[in-house]
Parts: sequence; structure tokens; C-alpha cells
Amino acid sequence: MTALGKVVRTTAFKLSVIYFVVFSVFAVAFVLYLSWSTNTLLESQLKETIETEIRGLAEQGRSGGLAAIFQTIEQRSHSPGASLYLITDVNGRILTGNISQVPADLFERSGMGMITVPYERNLGEGPRHLAMVQVLRLPGGFWMLVGRDIGEREEFRQIIGRALIWAVALLIGLALVSWFFVSRRVLKRIDSVAATSRRIMAGDLTRRLEVTGTGDEFDRLANSLNAMLERIEHLLVQLRNVSDNIAHDLKTPLTRLRNRVESALAGPPSDETYRAALVSTIEESDRLIQTFNALLMIARIEAGPPEGAMTEVEAGAIVRDVAELYEPVAEEQGVELEAVTPEPVTLMANRELLGQALANLIDNAIKHGLPAGADRQLRIVMSTAEEHGRLVLRVADNGVGIPEADRARVLERFVRLEKSRSTAGSGLGLSLVNAVVAFHNGTIELADNAPGLSVTIRIPIAPET
Ligand SMILES: Nc1ncnc2c1ncn2[C@@H]1O[C@H](COP(=O)(O)OP(=O)(O)OP(=O)(O)O)[C@@H](O)[C@H]1O
Ligand SMILES: [Mg+2]
Repeated sequence: MTALGKVVRTTAFKLSVIYFVVFSVFAVAFVLYLSWSTNTLLESQLKETIETEIRGLAEQGRSGGLAAIFQTIEQRSHSPGASLYLITDVNGRILTGNISQVPADLFERSGMGMITVPYERNLGEGPRHLAMVQVLRLPGGFWMLVGRDIGEREEFRQIIGRALIWAVALLIGLALVSWFFVSRRVLKRIDSVAATSRRIMAGDLTRRLEVTGTGDEFDRLANSLNAMLERIEHLLVQLRNVSDNIAHDLKTPLTRLRNRVESALAGPPSDETYRAALVSTIEESDRLIQTFNALLMIARIEAGPPEGAMTEVEAGAIVRDVAELYEPVAEEQGVELEAVTPEPVTLMANRELLGQALANLIDNAIKHGLPAGADRQLRIVMSTAEEHGRLVLRVADNGVGIPEADRARVLERFVRLEKSRSTAGSGLGLSLVNAVVAFHNGTIELADNAPGLSVTIRIPIAPET
């Protein structure tokens, strides 16, 4: 593309051309209208003056005859002014008046009312002027002409013409200036956006678009694009962490599995050893499958709600069901499990997912709540309540709790605290709870139950439309 072609294709150039054309059309139309209306006004004034004069002369003709008209014209011709007079005889010979030259065919055109003709004054040799005249036939074959110079009007027309040329010149100037500014200020920023996005595409995800702080359209655009970039970066980092974690967390059990089989094969052949190796292989595989299932479930929940995912549910009933389900385990572990559901709370939600989330929280409390051999009994309280149009689901235990610094972290995938290394698990339980909460547009809060952990989930009862 040539340099000129590049310039012509810019928005700034197109905008400037559009401005220029629109303004020019308006300016020309305005000036033309102004000159037209002024012209008509001047012309009608001229005509009226001439008509008044003729009426005056006719009046004199009636009272004093031709002689009076001749005399008056003779007199007026010698006084200065813009009025023009002429009286000729039948042959066109000038008898009196202040005009020395008129077009030869003037008297043949005399029936046309007021006409514009060139003339020459007899006082002083000036250039030819234009006049508006009325020609009348007097008794006895005489011709009389009364008129007025229209030089003023011509001058006015010239002024308007000049003004028009200046206006258009000014507009071209303004268009150039606006083009300059638009291209300098606007296109520069667009170029910077383009340059930054190229750099981001090249792999520098930490880069952000420039925000000048003026709050203009570009700032707003840059802000939302930056927010988008922030989100993308966050997701990418998360994705990277997840894949790192998956690689790491699955590598360990897979290596363990392989090593066990290998050592069983390396020892002396015995059915017993083989059987034990196979059993532990199945157990390890089951755990792997569980981890995969949990990961898949989280991914599926995060992908969004499938058709018919939400039904009308009563939260209290779900809590009581989960409590019933965990009752045998709790009893076996010597854990007190209580469900507090004072009044029904009905909302649109997914029963299975809510149940799964509650189950994960109870599972955690039982598993991580108290270390083996603790001197007190673990007590878990599940409760439902309605508060400000939201369902409040709480699972609280009186165990060791989670230090404040770790509360946000444990919601992430594969995060397990140091103290839990000895227990089985993949660190996906709370991630799933978090995904379920997000799925329901809710919030989750981990707090100190003094002692223990209290997890509070708040879900809006009226679904957001
Ligand atoms: N009620 C609790 N009391 C004390 N610590 C807890 C409690 N719940 C969770 N934690 C801590 O948070 C960590 C993350 O919990 P999460 O449920 O995500 O994983 P997990 O229970 O270790 O494994 P999984 O649930 O996948 O079997 C746990 O490893 C534990 O250290
Ligand atoms: Mg768990």
C-alpha cells in the first residue's frame, strides 16, 4: 500500500473528509440563503422606491401636464443621488435626464416592467453601471425612464461571494487541524493498543493496556480489556497449576503402584505376595479413579449448568439426608453429628451438588477435625437458615480448624495442609465445594469456630435472571 493509500484508509482522514463535506454543505447553503433573502429584500425596496417616484411624477403630470414632468426630471437630474431619469422623443433622442447611454433596444423591451440594464451617466465619465429601470410611454410619443443604480446590490453580492470563499478555506483549514488532532491523539492510542496486544500475543501475559486516567472511551475500553486480560492470566495460571498438580499428584501414586508391583515380582515367587500386590494395586487404582472423578466433576460444574440442573429444593431436607447418611460413620468414629433445621428454606438449586458439598464438608470435619487420641469428642453441627433472601448453610466443627493464612488456599485444587499428609485424600474436596457454591452464584466463607472450623455458604434464593 502506498503512503497516500495508508493515510486515506485511516479513520481520522475519513472523519475529517466527512466533517469537511457536511460543514461545507451547511455553510454554502446558509450563505446562499442569506444572500438570496437579502437580495430579494433589496430588490423589493428598489422597486418600491422607483414606483413611488413614478407615482409622484404621474401626479405632477396630471396637474401640470408634460411640461411639469419635464421640469421635475430636469431638476432632479442635476441633484446627486442614486436615482436615474431619462426622457427621449419618439426617435430616441435624449431630451433630458442624467443618463447618456442606454441599450438600443431598451424601448422595445419597455413592456416588461422593471428590468435590469447597463447604463452610463452623463455627469462624469465612469464605467458602465447596472440599473433597475422602468420605462413608460408618455403622451405624444415620448419615452420616460425612471430607475435606480444597483451597484450596492452588486457589491453586496461580491462580499457574499468572498465570504463564501473564505468560509470554505476556513473549513478546509479546520478539517486539516481536526484531522491532525484526531490522527495524533486517537490513532496514536489505537496504535498503542495494537502494539500492546501484539506483545501480549507474543507471550507477555503480564502486560496491560495503557490507561491515561482521563476516563474517556479509550480508558474505558482499556480498563475492560485489562480486566479481561487479568481474568485470562488468572485462568491460565490456574490451568498451569492444575496441570502441574495433576502431573505431580498422579505421578506419586502411579510410581508407588509401579514400585509395589515391581518389588512383588522381584521377590521370590509366592501366591501370597502376588495377591497382596494385586490388592494394593486395586486400592491405589481406586484412589486414582476417585481423583479423576472429582476432577471431572469439578470441571463439569465449572462448565455451567446443564438443562434442568436446577429444581425447587428444600435445604433442610438435604441437610437431614446427609446427616442420616453420615450417622453410621460418625457413630463409628465417636463423632457427634447434629442437624439444625428450624424452618424450611426453599430455593432453586441442584440437590445432588448441594448434598455432595455438604458430604465433603462433613468428611473433612471427621477426617481433619481432631488428631487421633485427642482428649475431647468431635462435634459437628450442620444448620440452615434464611437471611436477607439467601440460604445460609453452615457446617461447623470443634476440631483444630484451619489457620487464617491457609483459609483461602485450601479452596484451591490439590491443596492439602501439612498436618493432613498422613490421611488419605487428594485435596479436591473443598475445591468441589467451592465449585458447587459458584455454580449457585453463592459465596463461601471459612471462619474460626473457636475452636474448630466453620464453613458458611450463602446462596441467593431468588435465582439471578
Ligand atoms: N474441618 C477441617 N478441620 C481442619 N482442617 C481441615 C478441615 N477441612 C479441611 N481441612 C484442611 O484443608 C485441606 C483441604 O481439604 P480438602 O477437602 O480440599 O482436601 P482433603 O480433605 O485433604 O482431600 P479430599 O477431600 O480430596 O479427600 C485438608 O487437607 C485439611 O488440611
Ligand atoms: Mg476433604
